[in-house]
Amino acid sequence: MTTTNAKPTASKQAGESLLQVTDLTKHFPIRRGLLQRQIGAVQAVDGLTFDVARGETLSLVGESGCGKTTTGRMLTRLLEPTAGTILLEGEDITHWSAGKMRPLRRDVQMIFQDPYGSLNPRHTVGTIVGAPYHLQGIKTEHGVKREVQDLLELVGLNPEHYNRYPHEFSGGQRQRIGIARSLALKPKLIIADEPVSALDVSIQAQVINLLEDLQDELGLTYVVIAHDLSVVRHMSDRVAVMYLGNLVEIADRDELYTRPMHPYTTALLSAVPIPDTQRRTKRERIRLQGDVPSPVNPPPACRFHTRCWKAQEVCRTVKPPLYELAPHHLVACHFPENVDARTAAQAGAPLGDVVPDDAPTGDATGPAVAPDRDTAHGDTGSRD
Ligand SMILES: Nc1ncnc2c1ncn2[C@@H]1O[C@H](COP(=O)(O)OP(=O)(O)O)[C@@H](O)[C@H]1O
Ligand code: SF4
Ligand SMILES: [Mg+2]
Repeated sequence: MTTTNAKPTASKQAGESLLQVTDLTKHFPIRRGLLQRQIGAVQAVDGLTFDVARGETLSLVGESGCGKTTTGRMLTRLLEPTAGTILLEGEDITHWSAGKMRPLRRDVQMIFQDPYGSLNPRHTVGTIVGAPYHLQGIKTEHGVKREVQDLLELVGLNPEHYNRYPHEFSGGQRQRIGIARSLALKPKLIIADEPVSALDVSIQAQVINLLEDLQDELGLTYVVIAHDLSVVRHMSDRVAVMYLGNLVEIADRDELYTRPMHPYTTALLSAVPIPDTQRRTKRERIRLQGDVPSPVNPPPACRFHTRCWKAQEVCRTVKPPLYELAPHHLVACHFPENVDARTAAQAGAPLGDVVPDDAPTGDATGPAVAPDRDTAHGDTGSRD
């Protein structure tokens, strides 16, 4: 386990912190033999620290397998953390017993990636969306059916479809059913695990708009998980980038998209289309070399060093802590980009890119040297 990420991250809003996560870690044991002796561990999440302010949307982004779902499942307490703490409204819920979990199940809800697999095909929509009331033993003023029909209407579905089955709906509609179910108990926090990645591109924007509208209407707080920075650009207040179980960069949305400082973020962003077509040709595509290493035996120190074009000896021996290189902008890199050497040195990083203090900050212009760049569309290594 690492302790280098122990510095709490700052929220964009001065508002009250709803969720505080410190050094959150999940190692899945690997067992072999008759005695089921532990011979190793999948280091799925290793020392995550961040907080989420009430009413904001924090996006967790990274390639497939970097630990996003595991993090979401720990936050909803579907998985027991190996180490670290989770505070919800200041209360330590990290190891709450099953009995204490009941009220928590109301407060923190999850929207799942797969709108096909997450709905029981044998249950009607009414039963699915009404299940949280029955599970929690909650009585409603006008009966559960009325409550469920109101929820269906809220998410843009026909309340008359109460008795229909999931297979009678399209993918986008099924995700709306999942969203209605997550809203049933008026949660404080919603963890949305790749809520649109299984949907057609044409439907994705509709579901994202719905989530945004619901946030405005109900004052919801979101942690949105995505493998692609383009999906969450519009809806995020802040973005946290994960690589192989570690948090490598976290910043306010506009700051991160216009001035990425971690080489990995730069590579991910180079695959995101620039809205302004005139600037499209300026951004070079960075193709990361090699595969993501195994979380069973992750590279020491900076886990990104096996794929990083800027790696030096110190990257292989000293784990970079999260340096705050601009207000609310934290970066775990010894040689961050888009920051002048003086600022980096003041924050404690050994060397920043030597950029003059008055240099313009472009839109993900990327580092001076990258391994394999082009302007064509292709694969950055995002495997989802
Ligand atoms: N129950 C489990 N047992 C062992 N390894 C797991 C388990 N769940 C996830 N993993 C591993 O943990 C790593 C992170 O997985 P996950 O959190 O699902 O990543 P993501 O959601 O970012 O794709 C992966 O290597 C995955 O194979
Ligand atoms: S610490 Fe070194 S290897 Fe890691 S991202 Fe920064 S430059 Fe690359
Ligand atoms: Mg996942």
